[in-house]
Amino acid sequence: METLAVNEAALEALDQTVEITADEMDKPEFKFDKTVGSIHSENPRMVMRNVNVHYGEKQAIHDVSLDIGANEVIAMIGPSGCGKSTFLRCMNRMNDTIENCTVSGDIKLDDVNIYDKKQDVVTLRARVGMVFQKPNPFPKSIYENVAYGPRIHGLAGSKAQLDEIVRNSLERAGLWSEVKDRLDAPGTSLSGGQQQRLCIARTIAVSPEVILMDEPCSALDPIATAKIEELIDELRQNFTIAIVTHSMQQAARVSQRTAYFHLGYLVEVGETSNLFTNPSHKLTEDYITGRFG
Ligand SMILES: Nc1ncnc2c1ncn2[C@@H]1O[C@H](COP(=O)(O)OP(=O)(O)O)[C@@H](O)[C@H]1O
Ligand SMILES: [Mg+2]
Repeated sequence: METLAVNEAALEALDQTVEITADEMDKPEFKFDKTVGSIHSENPRMVMRNVNVHYGEKQAIHDVSLDIGANEVIAMIGPSGCGKSTFLRCMNRMNDTIENCTVSGDIKLDDVNIYDKKQDVVTLRARVGMVFQKPNPFPKSIYENVAYGPRIHGLAGSKAQLDEIVRNSLERAGLWSEVKDRLDAPGTSLSGGQQQRLCIARTIAVSPEVILMDEPCSALDPIATAKIEELIDELRQNFTIAIVTHSMQQAARVSQRTAYFHLGYLVEVGETSNLFTNPSHKLTEDYITGRFG
């Protein structure tokens, strides 16, 4: 049984972004000119080149280029405030919803520029789904939480087909056996870990190609976290996943590649096992050995 619900205190702590000062940035050990390691994937689904993001005058992402490959989990790590969430949100245009936020550079999903004027963002966000830090089920039943997306995207031709999509999505999210007898109960009546799996079921119900996860376990207890991590590994068979995490252990457990961000720069990217055991950049080394973060 999962007993702990969302840990509000932990969430609040995470929201207190630590700013690194301009003085610190000027220290020689913080200098770097280009990303260390290979930004390329063998079989890229998303290709990002020279991405810059500003909030008003303030630049949050500096010239970041990165591929995300099919069936891989890429972890994005780095100190609080380094731009992980900002960069993640570029991939399904969630930054569009933030006033003052401007994104430049090239971001492609299977060769299609997702920032093209013709790109419909609702369709894009079905193809590139997102799971947030705090589980956010709709104020509707468990069934409706999952059925909503397939219904608005016209994915089911009949009630039976919709039932099948709901069941299949809940199964793949590892939640079916726990909720099959209470599909009419509110989504919010579930435990925190179950709510997060419900949100994952809701995301996969519309058959996305890419799933973005922004610290999906930070509000969960260890047992619920372990379940989500197992699930991420299973989902990799069918989806491409980018996960932001503040836990290096989690990055090591769930990802094949890791990208280390610092002050809005992508400092280093590489195979996860390699990056953690043999980092190339001093900043990466300092972070993984706990010198800051
Ligand atoms: N909505 C926003 N408006 C203005 N500045 C923001 C906004 N969101 C994030 N920032 C700033 O952009 C930088 C990167 O933030 P963020 O992407 O949230 O970092 P992370 O997810 O790595 O903690 C920080 O300096 C943060 O203060
Ligand atoms: Mg963040």
